[in-house]
Amino acid sequence: MIFEKNILITGGAGFIGSHVVRLFVTKYPSYRIVNVDDLTYAGNLENLKDIENNTNYIFVKANICDTQAIEHVMAEYQIDTIIHLAAESHVDRSITDPLAFVNTNIVGTANLLINAKKAWLNDMTGKLFYHVSTDEVYGSLGETGFFTETTAYDPRSPYSASKAASDHLVMSFFHTYHLPVIISNCSNNYGPNHFPEKLIPLSINNIIQKKPLPIYGKGENVRDWLYVIDHAHAIDIIVHQGKIGETYNIGGHNEWKNIDLIRLLCKLMDEKLGNAPDTSLQLITFVKDRAGHDLRYAIDASKIQHSLGWTPSVTFEEGLSKTIDWYLANTTWLQHVTSGDYLTYYKSHYENV
Ligand code: NAD
Ligand code: TYD
Repeated sequence: MIFEKNILITGGAGFIGSHVVRLFVTKYPSYRIVNVDDLTYAGNLENLKDIENNTNYIFVKANICDTQAIEHVMAEYQIDTIIHLAAESHVDRSITDPLAFVNTNIVGTANLLINAKKAWLNDMTGKLFYHVSTDEVYGSLGETGFFTETTAYDPRSPYSASKAASDHLVMSFFHTYHLPVIISNCSNNYGPNHFPEKLIPLSINNIIQKKPLPIYGKGENVRDWLYVIDHAHAIDIIVHQGKIGETYNIGGHNEWKNIDLIRLLCKLMDEKLGNAPDTSLQLITFVKDRAGHDLRYAIDASKIQHSLGWTPSVTFEEGLSKTIDWYLANTTWLQHVTSGDYLTYYKSHYENV
C-alpha cells in the first residue's frame, strides 16, 4: 500500500506520544505511523492497546541513540516526517541522573537529526523534522510576564538544559544543512496515561491510596497546565500548517500555584469518591523543596493562536475532571505502572513521606 505520508513518531508509548500516535493513526488512515520507542520505565504499550492492530500503525522497539536502528527505520518505511517526542522527561530524575538526560535528549536528538539529513539529502521537499520541546528551556519567571518565542533560553535543571541543547541542535541543522525543522515549546501537560511520578497523576494515585500528598516547599510554585489532547491537536496543526524554521509556544492560559491545584484536585476527588468534604486535604504534606526549583512558568501562546488558529478546547476543571475519571476507570493500568521499579523510585525520592 502507498501511504500519503510516512511519519516516524519517537516516544509514542509515553504520555504525550501515545495521544499523538492515537490522533494520527485514527484521523489519518492514509498515513503510515511508525512508533519508535525504547520502552523505558515511562513507555507503556498498554497506552496504545486500542489502536495497536490498525493497519497504518507499526511499533519498533529501538533506542533513538542507536544509529543503525534509526537508519533502518528511515529507509525501510521511507520516512518523510519525524515527530520527535522521545525523551527523559522528569526534572527530579534529572537531578539524580543527569547523564541519562544528556544521552537521550541530546545524543538521541543529534542521532535523529543526522539520520534525517542523510535520508533526505537529495530531496528535502515535503520533509519535516518536528521537535517537541518544553517551556522549561526559558528558565523561571518572576510573578509577572510570559515566555514568548523570542525569550532568551535560560535552562536551570539538567532536564531543561538537555532539552535546550536539543532545541539548539535542531535549529543548527536548519541553518547549516537546510533541514526542514519546526520546534514547539509547550507548558505542563496533564491528562490520561500520565506516569504517576509527575504532580497531578502522583496526587491522584495517592488520594486513591489514601497516601500523603507531597508538596515541595510551600506549594507556591506556579505552572501553566494544558490538557494533553489539546497539545496533540496543536501538534497536528503544526505538522500540517506550521512554517519551516519557526518555533511555536503552546500553553493553556491556565496558571495554578501547586497548592491551589492540589486543593482543587482534593475537592473534585472527594466528590467523585463520595468522601466527606475535606477528607483528602488532610493528606497534604509539605516536604523538602526541589533543588533549583523554578518558581513560575507561563506561556504567551498568541503566535500559534493568531497564525495557526489553535486554542485550548477544555477548561482546567473539565480537563481535570476527565483525567480523574480516566484514572478511576483504569485502576489496572495504574496498578501495573506503580508496581516494581516505581516502588523503588518512590521510596528513594520520598523517603520521609
Ligand atoms: P514520557 O516520559 O511520558 O515519555 C517518554 C517516552 O520516550 C517513553 O515512551 C519512553 O519509553 C521513550 N524514550 C525515552 N528514552 C528513549 C530512548 N532513548 N529511545 C527511545 N525511546 C525513549 O514523556 P512525555 O511527558 O510524554 O513527554 C514527551 C515529550 O514532550 C518530551 O520530549 C518532553 O520533553 C516534551 N514535553 C513534555 C511536557 C509534559 O508536561 N509532560 C511538556 C512539554 C514538553
Ligand atoms: P512536575 O509534575 O514534576 O512537572 P515540572 O517539574 O516539569 O513542572 O511538577 C509540577 C510542580 O509540582 C513543580 O513545581 C514541582 C511540584 N511537585 C511537588 O510539589 N510534589 C511532587 O511530588 C512533584 C512530583 C512535583
